[in-house]
Amino acid sequence: MVKVVICGAAGGIGQPLSLLLKQSEHISHLALFDVVNAPGVAADLSHINTRSTVTGHGKESMDEALQNAHTVVIPAGVPRKPGMTRDDLFKINAGIVRDLSEGIARNCPGAFVLVISNPVNSTVPIVCEVLKQHNVFDPRRVFGISTLDVVRSSRFVYELDNSIDPKSTRVTVIGGHSGVTIVPVLSHIPRQNFTKDQLDLLTHRIQYGGDEVVKAKDGAGSATLSMAYAGARFTSAILEATVAGRTGLIESTYINLHADAEGTAAFRAKTHLDYFAQDVEFGREGVSKILPLPELSAYEQTLLDAAVPELKINITKGTTFITEAS
Ligand code: NAD
Ligand code: LMR
Repeated sequence: MVKVVICGAAGGIGQPLSLLLKQSEHISHLALFDVVNAPGVAADLSHINTRSTVTGHGKESMDEALQNAHTVVIPAGVPRKPGMTRDDLFKINAGIVRDLSEGIARNCPGAFVLVISNPVNSTVPIVCEVLKQHNVFDPRRVFGISTLDVVRSSRFVYELDNSIDPKSTRVTVIGGHSGVTIVPVLSHIPRQNFTKDQLDLLTHRIQYGGDEVVKAKDGAGSATLSMAYAGARFTSAILEATVAGRTGLIESTYINLHADAEGTAAFRAKTHLDYFAQDVEFGREGVSKILPLPELSAYEQTLLDAAVPELKINITKGTTFITEAS
């Protein structure tokens, strides 16, 4: 059993995510860090009758919270309001994620780092660059959680074809986590004789599902509950593989492609991308294998071609935020 830290634990995602992780059998210590209200959330959760100890850590106690963590999940930062893009959050969230990464490098340099804070396409490179500066970067251990795109894909496909089981039908989603960079690979799921109109609709809904929630919440934030579900699913898979040694667990996730430098060399040479969301198999050390890109339909190839330039811009923005500041 291991220590897991949630940074941003008192927020819209942080609270339900902490609740779900309180139920994990692999966690002995759930440390909740936030700049507001962490002790209150921790006191509340600590009454739940599972084995893990819950502690709350405020603004001044980041180092204490992160000390010797096995896994750190980061939903800290501001969410979107209607009319904003995820990239608009960079100004505030980049600094938050940088500071947390510094804390990770100091206190738990070998931890698995699971990033939820947007814009994920840029915040993951920020984490990696900070860890590189501290000589503690292992590309197998840093993940952008894009699982909500996968969860939405299964659900939205089910809405068109309710003969599939939405829970067990997993759609690979490649690229990144924002708008056109989200590329669902729908050509590989069973029973997918969609018309072109259905495919357009489905793809657009998956790419812009986040906007649906932002609009419906009307200024009160973005997806929190579905994100907590997706975040708990991803964190549980990481713990199952790294703590319990379970093999064969696969999720789509946004990672540094050097996690499997040999396997991705041709793709990197062609696209010049260092980060990409793809199906990954987990092992004891995190990424054990980045699966080969599935064969794409012409439709999906066009989506991928549109994603690559945008991804490059997002990645460079995150990387240079750290490299050009030093
Ligand atoms: P929220 O405002 O409800 O919660 C964020 C929490 O972070 C707050 O409690 C705040 O106090 C805390 N925080 C701020 N600065 C901090 C710091 N320096 N250290 C620790 N905690 C800090 O927001 P939310 O709805 O929970 O969303 C959080 C982030 O997750 C946003 O950036 C949002 O865009 C992103 N998000 C990502 C996905 C995804 O699929 N990856 C999905 C939904 C939301
Ligand atoms: C989502 O996909 O719901 C999140 O990235 C939050 C957002 O800003 O849309």
